[in-house]
Amino acid sequence: MTGLSNSRSLSFLEAITPQSSESDIELKVVIPLLKILGYSDADWRSQARFAKTKLDFLVHPNELFTTCLPYLVIEVKAANKRIDSAVWQINNYMRQSRATLGLLTNGYTFRLLYNHQGQIITIFNYSQAELISQFGLFYKTLCKETCLKVGNAVLQSQNNINFQFLTYTAKIFASEDMFGLFKKKPDLNSNSQSTKQPTVVTSNQKKSMIITVFNNKGGVGKTTLTINLAATLTQLGKKVLLVDIDAQANLSTGLGIDPLNDVELAGRKDITHLLTEPKTKLEDVIYQKRWNDIELDVVPSHIRLSRMESRLTQMVDSDRVLAKKLRNNEYDFVFIDPPPWLPDRSR
Ligand SMILES: Nc1ncnc2c1ncn2[C@@H]1O[C@H](COP(=O)(O)OP(=O)(O)OP(=O)(O)O)[C@@H](O)[C@H]1O
Ligand SMILES: [Mg+2]
Repeated sequence: MTGLSNSRSLSFLEAITPQSSESDIELKVVIPLLKILGYSDADWRSQARFAKTKLDFLVHPNELFTTCLPYLVIEVKAANKRIDSAVWQINNYMRQSRATLGLLTNGYTFRLLYNHQGQIITIFNYSQAELISQFGLFYKTLCKETCLKVGNAVLQSQNNINFQFLTYTAKIFASEDMFGLFKKKPDLNSNSQSTKQPTVVTSNQKKSMIITVFNNKGGVGKTTLTINLAATLTQLGKKVLLVDIDAQANLSTGLGIDPLNDVELAGRKDITHLLTEPKTKLEDVIYQKRWNDIELDVVPSHIRLSRMESRLTQMVDSDRVLAKKLRNNEYDFVFIDPPPWLPDRSR
């Protein structure tokens, strides 16, 4: 499928009748459209909860999940409902999810909306016939390739802002050489880091700065900020470790580590082993990820961490386990990405 479709590839639209229910439209129109647009089943969720809303479809590919806001939300109505009366609803959903685009459809009409800083603008309002004749434009706006391009552009601009922020802050503190940020950046290309095994120094001469971005509220950007700060610091030549202690594993998946396939099924270890097995050392659970000059070491999480809370709180000295395992490491900065809540230690 090239995406620049013709009337034949959109023939599923003929299955719609004025009696088609909302779920008919979802199954017979929206899901086939998402496939044509290049999204796999893992790239979208139906009946997705986001902030305080439940969205018919949330299109948010894994590659961008922890780094960008959603690209597209879709609100579906039954064929006999006028979509005009649901415009307020999708406007609301777009504002709450801060998605870039919104698609409102009853199978006969397709309204595409753009979210400009909370102001929702209609881009077009197509009938089925117009959708077929203008499908090239529809495809280019909504396809996965465009979604990834937009997401990566947003990420790049966030990284630039973080980089500028750290540079300016470091200039202000130049006399103290804030965290040694202005020391010469080592040439990462001089030896192949990707094959180098992570090492932990045994002497006590070096201390890393351990940072946790915390807010007792979910979904406010803790993981995103953590990844961006870590990436920016590595660009400044610092050695950075990220430790994911959130059972949702958003940081791990956001950095391309699948806790099931890359860790569990590969017979490797994760944060749960580090916390519960006295013999497991930091270097046993480190994964190295590299993108051009950004190199990050990651301790991934796993969903089983959520079932271990009571066991961990009963363990003697459990709150010191991680601190002990992080002792004498080789990193300049260690970022710990927390869950959206703190465990209740009074129980
Ligand atoms: N500055 C930003 N600009 C745009 N989107 C953002 C920004 N920060 C975060 N997001 C998006 O908001 C959503 C939540 O972000 P994130 O996962 O970082 O929050 P969190 O506080 O770590 O959540 P949790 O409490 O569940 O761990 C993600 O989809 C992310 O892509
Ligand atoms: Mg998080």
